[in-house]
Amino acid sequence: MRKKEKTAIEKLDKITAIALKRGFFWPTAEIYGGKAGLYSYGHLGKAVKNNFENLWRSYFLSFENSYEIDSSIILPEQVFIASGHLEHFNDPLIECKTCHFRFRADQFIEDNLKIRAEELTPEEMSDLIKKNKLKCPKCKSWHLGQVKWFNMMFPVSMGAVGIKDLAYLTPETAQSSYLSFKREFDAARKKLPLGIAIIGKAFRNEISPRQLFFRLREFTQAELQIFFDPDEINKLNKEEWKEISKYELILLAQKQKTQKEISCEEANKKLKIPKFYLKAMVLVQKFYLEKLKIPKKMFLFRELSKKERAFYNKIHWDIELYLETLGGFKEIGGVHYRTDYDLLGHEKHSKENLHIFYNNKKFIPHVLELSFGVDRNIWALMDIFFKEEKERTLFSFPRTISPIDIAVFSLVSREGMPEKAKEVYNIIKQNFSCFYDESGAIGRRYRRQDEIGTPYCITIDSQTLKDDTVTIRERDSMKQKRIKISNLLTALKT
Ligand code: GAP
Repeated sequence: MRKKEKTAIEKLDKITAIALKRGFFWPTAEIYGGKAGLYSYGHLGKAVKNNFENLWRSYFLSFENSYEIDSSIILPEQVFIASGHLEHFNDPLIECKTCHFRFRADQFIEDNLKIRAEELTPEEMSDLIKKNKLKCPKCKSWHLGQVKWFNMMFPVSMGAVGIKDLAYLTPETAQSSYLSFKREFDAARKKLPLGIAIIGKAFRNEISPRQLFFRLREFTQAELQIFFDPDEINKLNKEEWKEISKYELILLAQKQKTQKEISCEEANKKLKIPKFYLKAMVLVQKFYLEKLKIPKKMFLFRELSKKERAFYNKIHWDIELYLETLGGFKEIGGVHYRTDYDLLGHEKHSKENLHIFYNNKKFIPHVLELSFGVDRNIWALMDIFFKEEKERTLFSFPRTISPIDIAVFSLVSREGMPEKAKEVYNIIKQNFSCFYDESGAIGRRYRRQDEIGTPYCITIDSQTLKDDTVTIRERDSMKQKRIKISNLLTALKT
């Protein structure tokens, strides 16, 4: 095994061990041996997930005229006939004729031949597997079947009438926004662009769930569907364009070998990315670099080829982060120009008129989708902010993401210190998520908080009882300073 792979596995094992021990996540139904592709969040993991979702919500809903809705996760079969998921939402499946193990053919090729196989047809995959004499990963037999498409949706049979009421667990939150479009458009004063966001569960019957949060069968998506007038796709008002035209996006276009920083102006001229799409890309990149504090070199947009793109997309750039544990840049979201593909499909199949009258014309709005896998983002944050130092491991999460804001400690559990520490704890817990502890060596208590990413620890010691000051210890620098209790809230808020 190469050194890079070994380091990645060791890091993955260390993060997983902390996750299990401290309460970030674990396999669902672990006491029954767990089930591939299903994970549960413990109290710290759920706090990180809530923080990510709240940050996403407050940031992306600031896009003009955008609203969050909620919807059912079970949707009738007609929805997926119209959306094309029943026909096209497939992964390539291969079966070993000897041991009957079934697995994903494109990943099998990628793992063995180190090439991107996503865009190959089943026939091309079968040929490659034969030509390279690849063996079953389980029993090592050469006797492998032909690659076939496998539909990834989970069917559910609703009510007592069975087959007549066939429905599916939604494979993306997006469809519910399309189904709600007409109602929201009317309710939100018939204005475009209109953003409809859903943070919710999605379900995919992944053939080979793997890499922890990267191929789950049940996962959370945060998606914003922006409905707009297609005639406006390359138009922004003067101020908006002035604001972003010089901003440099980190792009890995089809024709490039490595990512480059390219101004929006250049991306519009040379790569023909429409201005409205660029505005969304800028918003996304700023979310990662400025809000989540992801180092620049770990972020990029990757352009997908016609064959790689999802069946509903005309322009498709994935959002990728560099994840050491998974061996390189990995997709954690995407910016998708879905045109009128979905609304048109729903209009045709439902016979409901989804045209609108706007800008003096009748048309079906087009959709620009900002799509994020919440769980993949959580794993990415844990990977990127995990650090090992001589005497400690830590998650140097940005404050907005850390599961606990502040830990309050009494140096010892006597001499009136716990009482004073509880007083301080009661003051700050109104404004922050806090953890209180009064037992054990103080150094060890600091290390335990570093390990879960708590940015500040406040300690009440004998001097507190004399002059009402406490120490604040900052996680990353480990520096401590004394501060008056009366100034504590202001200091912590800045
Ligand atoms: N609505 C568009 C859509 O669903 P997608 O690329 O299929 O597009 C969007 O999924 C995001 O959802 C991905 O970028 C990824 O972050 C997340 N995602 C997709 N499949 C996943 C899986 N099996 N497990 C975890 N996250 C997944």
